[in-house]
Amino acid sequence: MANPHILIVDDEKNIREGLAKFFKFEGYDVTLAADGQEALDLINKSSFSLVICDLRMPKIPGDELLLMVKKSHPFLPFIMLTGHGTVENAVASMKDGAYNFLTKPVNLEYLSLLVSQAIDRQRLQEEQEQVQTLLAKEKHAIKQHVVSASAAMRRIYQLVEQVAPTKANVIITGESGVGKEVIATAIHALSPRYNKPMVTVHCAALSENLLESELFGHEKGAFTGAHAMHKGRFELANNGDLFLDEIGEISPTVQVKLLRVLQERTFERVGGEQRIEVDVRIISATNRNLLDEVAQDRFREDLYYRLNVINIHIPPLRERREDILPLAGQFLREFSGENHKRIKGFTTDCVSMLHEFNWPGNVRQLRNCIESAVVMCDGELIKKEHLPIYVESQPYRKFCIDEEISLSRMERHYIDFILERYDGNKSHAAKKLGISRKTLQRKLQIEEDDDGTSCK
Ligand SMILES: Nc1ncnc2c1ncn2[C@@H]1O[C@H](COP(=O)(O)OP(=O)(O)OP(=O)(O)O)[C@@H](O)[C@H]1O
Ligand SMILES: [Mg+2]
Repeated sequence: MANPHILIVDDEKNIREGLAKFFKFEGYDVTLAADGQEALDLINKSSFSLVICDLRMPKIPGDELLLMVKKSHPFLPFIMLTGHGTVENAVASMKDGAYNFLTKPVNLEYLSLLVSQAIDRQRLQEEQEQVQTLLAKEKHAIKQHVVSASAAMRRIYQLVEQVAPTKANVIITGESGVGKEVIATAIHALSPRYNKPMVTVHCAALSENLLESELFGHEKGAFTGAHAMHKGRFELANNGDLFLDEIGEISPTVQVKLLRVLQERTFERVGGEQRIEVDVRIISATNRNLLDEVAQDRFREDLYYRLNVINIHIPPLRERREDILPLAGQFLREFSGENHKRIKGFTTDCVSMLHEFNWPGNVRQLRNCIESAVVMCDGELIKKEHLPIYVESQPYRKFCIDEEISLSRMERHYIDFILERYDGNKSHAAKKLGISRKTLQRKLQIEEDDDGTSCK
């Protein structure tokens, strides 16, 4: 690291040079200025770690110089040197941001101590700023990675930012492939635990016994084949996050053990007696309706409430179509790069097909679709024929009216069109139409009363 660089400003030549000699000997780089104006020019040209400045000087006095410099270099520490007659001004300059002041004749040992303290504090401040800038950049990168163009995803992202700094357990729900793991990872990455582990357990992939030993570990000899002690995922995730994927699949025995860790924060390894203490936040995910599972006695209610401090529900992709094209664009960039292709985008009919398809496999299906389209494409644009056949096979309907009808009939046609798009879900349809659910129901009722039938 380069030596700290001090600027010494004093109109008295012998003081300036005496101080320079002393601080050079102490290992600092030193530059001298004979008045405030010269100092100002030097500060604007080079970078200094600290300024030692006489208060009373011709042209620009020290306290004025300080005020001028603080505007452009708010963190540059100033130590003021003052004669007995100007102590009051020196005190005032502390209020204006000077680090400290010393009366002349200067006690060099004390000045040297002040200088090194001020420089250390300055370095710390700069380091903290760098960390903050890095964190802000990191947060921005995470946000860019999680596509959230729709209002629903934006709300989810806000929730992620709110919950990330806390220790609250979170359950993420939603159909398969909606992005539950993406959201779990974002919560971890934005939390103060980001540099501690995030450990994942796929609960459905393991048998009951295996899951138990995977979560809590086992002692040597706990069961046949347990040749050595094995740490469980809870221990590995200590001080970090444990992501329990497909939590709806765990057996009643494991549910009881899990509840105990959540209540007491301690557990024993399988076959062991030693109590192990852990500090772990649990993020779980499921595509089941856990409340139904509770109602049917398949999932413990007490465990459900322990895990479900915050619930983040991710709607299926077909209910947030604004995300489809931005996601498709992100995947196109990713796979074009991976396959060394220069594909610029999609043709217009391709865009409509992607937008209108219902994506039963959600974001994962869209990702696979774009990956295969990139492989198939040998030009600059992805065309209809590059998309997997299933995207084309679903006829997508645009709203169109090819007969002359009354305004009220057209309204009804449009209401039916939107209802169909939202699988008959009246709340979603009403929201899309910009009316209340009650108004939608009234409009549907009026039409049926008029015609005796609903018109489709
Ligand atoms: N908002 C998003 N932005 C970018 N990529 C996303 C987003 N949501 C999902 N993905 C991508 O879609 C794929 C599926 O996401 P993820 O694995 O998180 O889904 P899931 O809900 O956990 O699925 P499953 O229920 O099958 O476990 C991943 O490749 C993921 O990177
Ligand atoms: Mg998943």
